[in-house]
Amino acid sequence: MASVTITNVWKYYGKTVAVKDLNITCNDGEFVSVLGPSGCGKSSTLRMLAGLEHISAGDIHFGDTRVNDLEPKDRDIAMVFENYALYPHKTVYENMANPLRLRGESEDLIKKRIAFAAEMLEIEHLLQRKPMELSGGQKQRTAIGRAIVREPKLFLFDEPIAHLDAKLRARMRGELKLMQRRLGTTMIYVTHDQLEAMSMADRIAVMHNGVLQQFGTPQDIYNHPVNEWVAGFVGEPPMNFIDCDIVDEGGKLHAVHSSFKVALTEGHAKLLNGALRDKSVRMGIRPDQISISVGSGSGVDGRIKLTEPLGGDTLVNVDLKGADQVLVKTNPDFSGAMDQACTLTFDTSRWHFFSKETGVAYF
Ligand SMILES: Nc1ncnc2c1ncn2[C@@H]1O[C@H](COP(=O)(O)OP(=O)(O)OP(=O)(O)O)[C@@H](O)[C@H]1O
Ligand SMILES: [Mg+2]
Repeated sequence: MASVTITNVWKYYGKTVAVKDLNITCNDGEFVSVLGPSGCGKSSTLRMLAGLEHISAGDIHFGDTRVNDLEPKDRDIAMVFENYALYPHKTVYENMANPLRLRGESEDLIKKRIAFAAEMLEIEHLLQRKPMELSGGQKQRTAIGRAIVREPKLFLFDEPIAHLDAKLRARMRGELKLMQRRLGTTMIYVTHDQLEAMSMADRIAVMHNGVLQQFGTPQDIYNHPVNEWVAGFVGEPPMNFIDCDIVDEGGKLHAVHSSFKVALTEGHAKLLNGALRDKSVRMGIRPDQISISVGSGSGVDGRIKLTEPLGGDTLVNVDLKGADQVLVKTNPDFSGAMDQACTLTFDTSRWHFFSKETGVAYF
């Protein structure tokens, strides 16, 4: 097992800057997910950890050892990629045995390790099959099995379940998390899927354009996003953003929009400390932090544009006055219809304000 420290790491490909001054510390035994959209530098980061890519600047340590100049084979890591890279002519057993044979391990140890991994991954009955006789999920398990048998210091997984179907992905999320907890091996897991990162990781490193935006627990990142970009990327359906003005009325701050005037909680007003008085801000609120009722009332005036029943929930698109729209997540028996007037109530204990200029969160 090992901790991983990434210190001021940069990655250039010619003039392209793929990773900018990255700092992440992953504790021994921790499951850290690197999350971000396509091209944000996730794989570049992982490949530098693996030793497959030169580090342009900065340092990477495993425990106390600086690994910048260590060959991949000397780093004691196991990688799993999206495209499993199994040997097509070898059986599942032989695929899993391969890294141990290369290391010159005894047949006895190979057998024991494979039995352990195969039981954990429930592929004992597949050991004599070849990859072409396996389903996508079974191939994936074989690739993971091949990583487990090495008993490495560190797992590096790059979108290992990205292409599986939704149901299998949901199951593999649980299984991978359980496997990592049972083995206690430090894991760095790259994904563009926020649900994967949220559901599995101890901490998430959110990246955008090669820059680390926020590094924290899933709860931290969901409840206290540091900027508008993180707030919009994490959470499904995504957070609503509405521009409004902060107005002082009788000593109390309000968020004012053509559809509403809502008072700030005392705590939030204190946080702003008057700094935003008479300023325009971007308000952010998640679809499940808005409640909706049909008809006009005291609250935020809206008009139902569209309802989308999803079985367990209903999503309601609501037009506000002006050009703004919000998405509301409500209960499945919501009865509103298109074009009906409705009233919204914001959970003001959980909304967010961002600077319109910099995107940085005030709270
Ligand atoms: N070998 C390379 N040569 C030149 N540019 C590269 C190379 N590999 C990656 N890049 C560029 O570096 C940036 C980061 O790429 P990277 O593969 O790390 O992204 P990613 O976050 O893994 O994306 P994805 O989710 O699509 O896999 C991108 O702009 C990409 O085009
Ligand atoms: Mg990638």
